Amino acid sequence: MRINSPKLNIMYKACMKASKSLIRDFGEVENLQVSSKGPGDFVSSADKRTEKIIIDELLRAYPDYGILSEEAGKINEKNNTNRWIIDPIDGTSNFLNGIPQFAISIGYEEENKIKIGLIYDPIKNELFFAENGNGAFLNNKRIRVSKKKNLKNSLLGTGGPKSNSKIKNEILDEYLEISKYIDTPIRKFGSASLDLANVACGRLDGFWQRELSYWDIAAGILIVREAGGFVDFLDRDINESKKMNLVASNSLIHQELIDLIKKIIEKN
Ligand code: IPD
Ligand code: CA
Ligand code: CA
Repeated sequence: MRINSPKLNIMYKACMKASKSLIRDFGEVENLQVSSKGPGDFVSSADKRTEKIIIDELLRAYPDYGILSEEAGKINEKNNTNRWIIDPIDGTSNFLNGIPQFAISIGYEEENKIKIGLIYDPIKNELFFAENGNGAFLNNKRIRVSKKKNLKNSLLGTGGPKSNSKIKNEILDEYLEISKYIDTPIRKFGSASLDLANVACGRLDGFWQRELSYWDIAAGILIVREAGGFVDFLDRDINESKKMNLVASNSLIHQELIDLIKKIIEKN
């Protein structure tokens, strides 16, 4: 593993410790699936358990660093200089249903800029990580985005809409229009962080999704960019307290994808 900095090392250790408990819990979910109670409550406690392990490890190493985590919210809020962004289980619905497509995602920011990103798929034992300026890696190998040149032949991923989305129809319409434009059916894998990781290593040529939260994407944004890809947002004022509309791709199809989405938005 090419772990270059002390901070990445701490992130890696926190993630590995948490993933042991997560794998055990995933095994338990598979048992609960067939029980009458179902795995719902157990999964939300698994989420919190995983998060606690990660946060405890990070705070042990850097007690005054800020944290933004999906379940726990903000910790050491006054520290704007150094901050961890955590999604303990990204792909909860998959986890809940015993589908092995979920990840731990941890980003590290300095002065509001993402410096380190780490996404770990505990089932496939795939660790995606990047440090600002040092390229992106999957386990020991350097990764790069795909070289696909046109959108029509591209393999794209997306996600959503959530049941409570106010723009459900727009999201579904976008999905429909983009589906008509490209040859291969769009993938919906259900874990935005892994979708971004898959763009970074060239498995997907592009990914777009509306209404994402910052913890879904913080680590993935850096990993895609360090793998040579582009990440942009459809809105001018992006703000972590709002939902984010993201487009990520191999860079060669980027403008075409953004133009297509904008055309669909204008038509509506
Ligand atoms: C979700 C996943 C999913 C995406 C949702 C996210 P969660 O995160 O990333 O792929 O479509 O928008 O909320 O709830 O599993 O952590
Ligand atoms: Ca998430
Ligand atoms: Ca989550």
